[in-house]
Amino acid sequence: MQLNEGRWQLAGHDVEALAEQHGTPLYLYDEQTIRRQVKRFRNAFGAFDHRIHYAMKANSNRDVLLLMKNLGLGIDAVSIYEIRHALEVGFDAHQILFTPNGVPFDELEQAIELGARLNIENLTYLEQLGEAYRGDVPCTLRIHPGLVMPPSSRDATGWYQRSRFGIGEDQMAQALRLVELHGIRVEGLHVHSSSMILDEQVFGAAAKVLLDLARKLPNVMAIDLGGGIRPPYRDEDDHPDLDALAHSLTKPLEQFESETGRSLQLWFEPGRYLVAESGTLLTRVNVIKQLGGRTIAAVDTGFHQLLRPKLYDAWHEIKNISNPHGPQQVIDVCGCLCEEDDLAKARSLPEVREGHLLAIRNAGAYGYSMASTYNSRPLPAEMML
Ligand SMILES: Cc1ncc(COP(=O)(O)O)c(C=O)c1O
Repeated sequence: MQLNEGRWQLAGHDVEALAEQHGTPLYLYDEQTIRRQVKRFRNAFGAFDHRIHYAMKANSNRDVLLLMKNLGLGIDAVSIYEIRHALEVGFDAHQILFTPNGVPFDELEQAIELGARLNIENLTYLEQLGEAYRGDVPCTLRIHPGLVMPPSSRDATGWYQRSRFGIGEDQMAQALRLVELHGIRVEGLHVHSSSMILDEQVFGAAAKVLLDLARKLPNVMAIDLGGGIRPPYRDEDDHPDLDALAHSLTKPLEQFESETGRSLQLWFEPGRYLVAESGTLLTRVNVIKQLGGRTIAAVDTGFHQLLRPKLYDAWHEIKNISNPHGPQQVIDVCGCLCEEDDLAKARSLPEVREGHLLAIRNAGAYGYSMASTYNSRPLPAEMML
């Protein structure tokens, strides 16, 4: 977003004019930012034969999906509805990896019928798959992240052990027995290590675990390292260096190749990294209130349209589009719902008045896709720039 002669511009558009034309609240996505992020990701892992399955739960806007398709990405889907949506946008079924957890087995059956690939995360599904399809349907196996990093890892300490996703160490022997019993073709091994990767060794550590297992499974042709890389939401945010993450993979892969003569593909499932920075939520200030020493700006959006501040205490940069050069003022920005709905607390912004337009930045991931119609409010409009 650039300030040009006193007017904020986004992807060459005047932001105030966009809001006037299309109304608020309004989600905007900047195509060039998504292209840049895909390019960065590809460059970092360019030394490897790799494939990206975009985690569409982060943002399933049709234009975003079309862009990902045109850029040659596949899809990581978590529901039969996402699969159908991706097919309708034009993805080939074999480009869609389905990673369900806790859904009825019926959804897996429908996914198989449609031709999507399956990523199996528990023994129940594995057994049901074996019994229903014998060896006819291949799959990847999702491994529990507790196998990857020690509890002392600085990534969300303990998260790896507490995660409920994937097949755990104590279940692995049984999983391998089921694979053998039913003749299931395991084509890949997967781990989504965390949604807050900070440790740059994590991919290397994950690869070692998956590759060790791949030695016992001769049909494995890919290891999938999931998503979890986030761009910094503000300058001081700790974030991993993509090149260092990629570098951590070199040794384990080289060793595996030289020992087994097999070379495996690397798969990734980034969501947030590709789309977070592309998104801006425009919102209008309806009410300014002075209360208990606070100045509060109540806006025409809220946690029904951007849940992250409420759910994760997430920080999103806010710009006052209407008054870029106003005197700085400390203000709380809250939504229009009938409960505590802080979007930002004690933020220093150029003076905010009723009717001003605010831009909430980095809202491209888990923004609209987590939105609801709480308070019977309609969903906001979305637009790709
Ligand atoms: C299995 C799996 N893959 C990929 C992702 C995408 O994660 P992110 O958006 O943090 O890259 C998630 C997020 O929950 C996930 O559970």
